[in-house]
Amino acid sequence: MALLIKNGEIVTGSTRTVADIWCEGETITRIGCDIPAPAGTEVVDAAGKFVFPGFIDPHVHLHLPFMGALAKDTFRTGTQAAVAGGTTTVFEMCCPSRGEEPEDGFAAWKAQAEGSACCDYSFHMGVTKFDERSASQLRRIVESGVQSFKIFLAYQGAFGVDDSELFRTLRLARELGVITAAHCENAALVAELQSQLLAEGKSGCEWHHASRPPFVEAEGVHHLMAFAEAAGAPVYIVHLSCREALEEAVRARLRGVDVRIETLIQHLVLDKSSAELPDFEGAKFVMSPPLRAKDHQAVLWNALAQGLVDAVGSDHAPFDFKTQKTIGRGDFTKIPNGIPAIEDRIPLLYTHGVCSGRLDLHTFVNVASTNAAKIFNLFPKKGTIQPGSDADLVVFDPAYRGKISAAGQVSAVDYSAFEGFEIHGRPAVVTVRGEIAARDGKFTGSPGRGKFLPRPRGRNT
Ligand code: URP
Ligand code: ZN
Ligand code: ZN
Repeated sequence: MALLIKNGEIVTGSTRTVADIWCEGETITRIGCDIPAPAGTEVVDAAGKFVFPGFIDPHVHLHLPFMGALAKDTFRTGTQAAVAGGTTTVFEMCCPSRGEEPEDGFAAWKAQAEGSACCDYSFHMGVTKFDERSASQLRRIVESGVQSFKIFLAYQGAFGVDDSELFRTLRLARELGVITAAHCENAALVAELQSQLLAEGKSGCEWHHASRPPFVEAEGVHHLMAFAEAAGAPVYIVHLSCREALEEAVRARLRGVDVRIETLIQHLVLDKSSAELPDFEGAKFVMSPPLRAKDHQAVLWNALAQGLVDAVGSDHAPFDFKTQKTIGRGDFTKIPNGIPAIEDRIPLLYTHGVCSGRLDLHTFVNVASTNAAKIFNLFPKKGTIQPGSDADLVVFDPAYRGKISAAGQVSAVDYSAFEGFEIHGRPAVVTVRGEIAARDGKFTGSPGRGKFLPRPRGRNT
């Protein structure tokens, strides 16, 4: 059935106009005024609303065995939550353990997604070890359409790689023309600070930040920048959280390192006082890099507005409070790291970014959709509204007022880190490749309809 979105204010990364959008099957085929609706057309009245390109979350974990727990959301529930919140494409971190072969890990992650995902998806291929055998497997994985690697400088003993592995991964990435996403924290410093704190009897969640202060992240970024420069490889810093780390990245960019930067909605709207809440409540807010002191937020918002930071992700890492975060009661180093945010990223970014005047509408679209599509080779299939693009559209109601509550969320997690946060504006209708897949914060689409997105070679930024 054809779909017609009528009279919405269409906002892309660079244009803004009131018009109709005609979608034939899965694709946008026409944009114009007064497009007629023949019988049988599904018509969405978007008058008084914005129409944005489907939002892209460049960093999620929907299948994540980590720190003794398995992430609570699945590709089914996590992508339903994504779509309800306006996200129509996700980039999942495929994170095999060091003992696993890359192709086995990749197959396992793909099997989790196939037939379950409710929006389109791609992967960043986690490189959690590097040797000749894994290198040839990584080549084949890239050949199959995964044009990005993911490495961890932290989590030594789990996903972390050593410096030789880092350098060899970046050299392979350069050879293959793929970009490498990186978690930047100095693993040795984290380990030293953690054992020092525990030895002093400082074992509650309020000490998590002290084990990973800004200099730990800044050193990680500095380290990655040196290796990226040496290898001549493009890199993408995930979840950058603080001024010190940003300074390292910008310094490297000024000397020619090809570096893109992502921050998270958590770091933009939450601060470290949440992780200091008593009675283990702070565990809900334990993630890495940690939530920072409030003054870092203004730095990150400015960096987004000025184009220094390219993207806002959710790093959705959904661990239940009651049964999973509790693994770390009495020892903060064992709390499964992560704060779920896949469902709330867009309404929060709009509320705290656009409504507060920190971001204009085009920057909002760019950092929440278009830039990720460009950096990771999905543009213009995804990330914009133009004939030929996938009909992934968000009809956004700026007049909506509401509050976030775990009780009403689609995600399977038992809490929300944004409980009680006020929301100004939310997606009213979300389409995934021409199908209406969410209305008013509820998933209404066909479960399992999401497709793997093989990405072409080469970057279009
Ligand atoms: O604390 C976090 N960020 N958990 C998810 C895994 C990661 O480091 O991205
Ligand atoms: Zn990370
Ligand atoms: Zn992550």
